[in-house]
Amino acid sequence: MCGIVGYIGKQKALPILLDGIKNLEYRGYDSAGFAVVASDGAVVSEKAVGRVANLEAKAGDAEALLGTTGIVHSRWATHGGVTEANAHPHSDCKGNIWLVHNGIVENYRELKKELEDAGHHFQSETDTEVIAHLIEEEKSKNQKLSTEETVRLALQKIRGTYGLAIVSRDEPEKLIAARNFSPLLLGIGANEYIVASDASAVLRYTRDVIYLDDGEMAVLTPEGHRIFDLENHAIEKKRDTIEWELEHAQKGGYPHFMLKEIMEEPEAIENSLRGRLIAEEGMAKLGGLESVEAELRGMRRLLIAACGTAYFAGKVGEYMLEEYAGIPVEVDIASEFRYRKPVFEEGDALLAISQSGETADTLAAMKEAKQKGLLTLGIVNVVGSSIARATDAGVYQHIGPEIGVASTKAFTSQVAILALWTLLLGRARDMSYVMGKRIAEELRQIPDLVRVILQNTDALEALAKKYQPYENFLFLGRKYNYPVALEGALKLKEISYVHAEGYSAGEMKHGPIAMIDKSFPSIVIAPKDSVYEKMISNIQEIRARKGSVIAIATEGDEEIAKMVDDVVYIPKTLEMLTPMLSVIPLQLFAYYFGVLRGHDVDKPRNLAKSVTVE
Ligand code: G6P
Repeated sequence: MCGIVGYIGKQKALPILLDGIKNLEYRGYDSAGFAVVASDGAVVSEKAVGRVANLEAKAGDAEALLGTTGIVHSRWATHGGVTEANAHPHSDCKGNIWLVHNGIVENYRELKKELEDAGHHFQSETDTEVIAHLIEEEKSKNQKLSTEETVRLALQKIRGTYGLAIVSRDEPEKLIAARNFSPLLLGIGANEYIVASDASAVLRYTRDVIYLDDGEMAVLTPEGHRIFDLENHAIEKKRDTIEWELEHAQKGGYPHFMLKEIMEEPEAIENSLRGRLIAEEGMAKLGGLESVEAELRGMRRLLIAACGTAYFAGKVGEYMLEEYAGIPVEVDIASEFRYRKPVFEEGDALLAISQSGETADTLAAMKEAKQKGLLTLGIVNVVGSSIARATDAGVYQHIGPEIGVASTKAFTSQVAILALWTLLLGRARDMSYVMGKRIAEELRQIPDLVRVILQNTDALEALAKKYQPYENFLFLGRKYNYPVALEGALKLKEISYVHAEGYSAGEMKHGPIAMIDKSFPSIVIAPKDSVYEKMISNIQEIRARKGSVIAIATEGDEEIAKMVDDVVYIPKTLEMLTPMLSVIPLQLFAYYFGVLRGHDVDKPRNLAKSVTVE
C-alpha cells in the first residue's frame, strides 16, 4: 500500500527520502512523488508514474538537493487513477502546504464541495488534496496561526483514516506528522528526524523510534519534537527500539507475503466496508454505484464474470443476492462467458470481479457485455486498472496490493463487498429493515470474528503437518460453503501441488465417493446452518468408507468432534456470511501444507498473479 517518508535535519533531505521510499517499494505502488523545502522557503516537487527510479530520474534539481526538510510518497491509488496529478505530494492553492497521505478521507466529497464553493481550486481527483486546502482555509481565517495549529484544526473536520507528513513554505524548519488508523512512526537521530509509515524506511538511519497512536500529531524541528492530540493536549511518549532487520520488516515480520496477507484479512475487510455500511439503517452506501442508481433499481438479472478465486467469490454472491435481494444471478467463468453465446435480456447487467482488474478473460467478458449494450459493473482492487476504467460503475476493494500469487485477502474482501451489494439491492427491493439491520450488524462483526480464527494458526500448522503424507484431498461444502470448498481445493492445489477436488457435497454420491478410502482425506465444511444435517450425512458416508475427515464446524458443536478425525472451529455468524470465516482455515491449511513441502508459496510454479493473456 502507500508509503510515506519525511525528513527534517541538517543533511540534504532528498537522498534520504529517496532511499527511504525505495525500502518501501516491496509494499506495491503505482506512482511516487516528493517535495523538498529549502531554508529560504523555496519548494521543489516532482512526481512520476511507475517506479521510484522514474522519480529519481527527475530529481536532479539543485535547489531540491539543498533542502533539508522534505516528504516523499509512494502511492497505491484509491481515489482517482494512476496519474502524475493524482500522485502525492498534494498542495494548497498557493503552494504553501505540501503533504503526503496514507488512508482515506471518507467525507472528502462534502469537504471538497465546501472548499470549491469557498474558491479553492483542485488539481487532482484525490481525497487527499482536500486536506491541503482545508489547512489553507484555516490559515486564511487566522493568519497568525502556526502551521501545526492550522493542521490540527483541519484534521478536526476530517472523517476517515490518515497517516500524514506535512511541510510548508511558511515554516520550512518544521515537519508535521499525524496519525489516525494508518501507521506512522518517528525515527529519532542526532538533530534529525525521519517520519515513516513503515520501519523499513528508517532502519538504515536509526533504531530509536516513537510510534504515534491514533489521534496524535507531532511537530518536529531539527532541535526536538512535540506530540499532542487534536485538542492540543501535550502527550508524553516513550521511545522504542527497533530490534529486527530490514528483510524481516518488509514482510511485516512474516516469512511470506501469503501469510502476511491472510493475517491482514480482518483489516482488509474493514477497509472494504469502511464508510459503506450503515448498520443502524440496515443499509449500504456505495459511492461508486450512485451514478447508476436508477439502472440498478430497474435491473432484472445480474450476470457475474470472473476467474479463479474471484469467480468463487462471485458464486457466494449469487447465493446471497438471490436469497436476500431476490435478484436472479448467473455466475460465469469469464473465459466461458466470452465464448459461449449468452442470451441477454432487457434489464441485464454484468458484474466483473477482479483483484488485479487486468485479467484478460474477465476484461474480454466485460467488453463483450458492453458491446451488447449491458450495464457493466465492477468489483476491483487495483484503482485505474483496465477493468476499473472500462466499467460503467463499480466498487473498489481498498485492501492494498496483494502480492502472494494465491489470492487470499481479495476473496474475503470481495465477499464482504457482495454482502454490501446484497444490502444495497435488497433494501431497494423488498428486504425488510429488520433483515437489513441484522445482516449489517453481523457483517460489521466479521473482521473481529476473523481475528478469533487467526489466533489459532498453530492448530492449522499442526493439521498440515499431520496430513503431509497424503497426496489427494476432497473438499466438500453446500450452499454458501460450496464455493468455499472449491476455493479451499484451489488454494491447496496452487501452493502445495497436491491433488485436491472441490465438490458440492450433494454431488459426492454421483462420483467422488468412488475415490474415498483411507488414503483420501476429506475436508468438510459443516457449520451449523440450514444444510448442517445434510453435511453430517456426507460425513457418515465418508466414515463408512474409511475416509478420514477434517471438519470446519461452528464453535460449540461438540457432537461433530465425535464423528470426525479433526475439527477446526469457526465462530457463529449469519449463514450468508460464513464463507468469510470458513475460508480462513482452508487458506492457512494450504499455506502451511505448501511451506512444509518446501515450496515457494508466494510464487508457486507455473502460476502468475495477473493473467493478462487468454
Ligand atoms: C490468477 C491468480 C489467482 C486469481 C485469478 C483471477 O489465476 O493466480 O489468484 O484469483 O488470476 O485474478 P483477478 O486479478 O482477476 O482477481
